[in-house]
Amino acid sequence: MKIVVLYGGRSAEREVSLMTGREMIRALSGLGHDIKGIDLTEGFLNELQSFQPDIVLIGLHGRFGEDGTVQGTLELLGYPYVGSGILASALAIDKSMTKHILKSAGIPVAKQVLINRDEYESLSDIFFEQLGENLMWPFIIKPNSEGSTFGLTLAHNVEEAKAGLDLALQYDSRVLIEEYIQGMEVTVAVTGDTNQPDILGVIEIIPMNELYDYHSKYQVGGSQHIIPARLEPEIMQEIESYAKKAYTAIHCQDYARIDFIIGKHGPIALEVNTLPGMTSTSLVPDAARAQGISFQDFLFSLVQTAYQ
Ligand code: DAL
Ligand code: MG
Repeated sequence: MKIVVLYGGRSAEREVSLMTGREMIRALSGLGHDIKGIDLTEGFLNELQSFQPDIVLIGLHGRFGEDGTVQGTLELLGYPYVGSGILASALAIDKSMTKHILKSAGIPVAKQVLINRDEYESLSDIFFEQLGENLMWPFIIKPNSEGSTFGLTLAHNVEEAKAGLDLALQYDSRVLIEEYIQGMEVTVAVTGDTNQPDILGVIEIIPMNELYDYHSKYQVGGSQHIIPARLEPEIMQEIESYAKKAYTAIHCQDYARIDFIIGKHGPIALEVNTLPGMTSTSLVPDAARAQGISFQDFLFSLVQTAYQ
């Protein structure tokens, strides 16, 4: 089989994507297939078309990869690929839109306000005072369409909130201000068809820092993963059911990872990752290993399913 792994690209998550792509290539090597890694920079279309893959694995994260653009390109060219299609990808890259859909599917989400760059320029202190009444300090401030916690701030006061907005606006023209939910970080790896999701694993994350930030995510030892998460059976059932509902509501396919915080009123969904990290410190590969499935077997079963 001729397999292409697309990786790199030009989003803020390029470095993470290179790690994911390399892990994918390493895992698939030695299976006797023809594997080619292609960095999604200028010229990738020529490389792709001259290789003529049977199947494409997308190791890209963030814009121009996780957002439906590459999925659309592959569909136009007629190459089958592993993972979610255009709709799920375009929805899930937009955190605000995702939350609207999850909420309408009956899944609890954090309160939010979405600000765009033009609005930000005319914001006054009164805005933050009113926001404090509605959302309660501290707030999480983050770019609406960015992964790996780039541009994220936990703001405790107006000054920090303004700095947080400035930072997040460097990554995106729309910024989410969300109520901060304190609690256990839990993420759920889900696989399968859109309408028949399976739980691969429910993972408890213990970050080294206050937040599960970039450093905690990608530094070896930056966080501890406990699988299965130490949850009461009824909370476990609830979170599994929310994760499956979210997977179907967003139209995910093959695999995805759905992030939650367990606050004092139960699980709150944060976001859906249609191309979750597959680096050596990532969560989905750990969930597979906890089930006794090697990363190689996990990845190759995704390839086979998508190829059929
Ligand atoms: N956006 C990163 C890669 C993740 O969700 O794992
Ligand atoms: Mg994400």
